[in-house]
Amino acid sequence: MLKIQGLECGYGRMKVLEGINFEVGAESVGLFGPNGAGKTTLISAVMGMIKPWKGSIELEGVRIGGAETFTIARMGVALVPQERELFPGMSVEDNLMLGAAYIPHAKDDIPNQLEKVFELFPILKERRTQYAGTMSGGQQRMLAIGRALMSKPRLLILDEPSLGLQPSIVAEVFEVLKSLKSSISILVTEQNVRESLKAIDRGYVLENGRIVLEDSAEGLKTNPHVVKSYLGL
Ligand SMILES: Nc1ncnc2c1ncn2[C@@H]1O[C@H](COP(=O)(O)OP(=O)(O)OP(=O)(O)O)[C@@H](O)[C@H]1O
Ligand SMILES: [Mg+2]
Repeated sequence: MLKIQGLECGYGRMKVLEGINFEVGAESVGLFGPNGAGKTTLISAVMGMIKPWKGSIELEGVRIGGAETFTIARMGVALVPQERELFPGMSVEDNLMLGAAYIPHAKDDIPNQLEKVFELFPILKERRTQYAGTMSGGQQRMLAIGRALMSKPRLLILDEPSLGLQPSIVAEVFEVLKSLKSSISILVTEQNVRESLKAIDRGYVLENGRIVLEDSAEGLKTNPHVVKSYLGL
């Protein structure tokens, strides 16, 4: 699905990522690391929001490094950004429909997709006519995920989906990710490593712009560095 080799990139003259080798197949992959490690930067490079300095980014064998964001979205990659990007003055349903509006293969299938998203998040169906901005933080996060799913992605990328949510909602979000992983590829960055490990197959640890560890969820769970730095024992 996604294959990154030797990626180097940054902002201005500041190099953030170096020597990144990273892959997501038909699976759910976690990307962990502390604040400022470069997780969002890596995602921005995949989405075409910043240009790679070196190395390659391929989506199903097609090089996308340097492509425009809308081209990458049309190729089947959807992002749930770290900062919510909903339209607060529009209804829940209109926000969802916008997720499909500019994606040709999704536009023709809106009613179907809408039903699927409502099945995953029944609260969105209940609140379909409500302004997005009047929903709770947890509901808005669900809406952001629902909107990304409306584009019928092959690869869903979520940047710290649990950030700022109360534990019960965090658990619900990861349950949904778990239920999705048999049908689409998922890449999720998180600081909540403990919860994410329940929902992913494999993960990478990124520190100071470099991948320092790569293992199965099981392997990460018992890795001394992960236990000490991320599972807070
Ligand atoms: N738009 C930008 N312009 C300049 N520097 C940036 C920009 N965005 C991020 N950085 C810097 O790049 C580095 C990596 O940031 P990044 O946001 O990728 O980290 P992160 O792992 O996503 O952290 P967090 O967990 O806080 O979201 C940091 O030093 C940050 O200050
Ligand atoms: Mg980030």
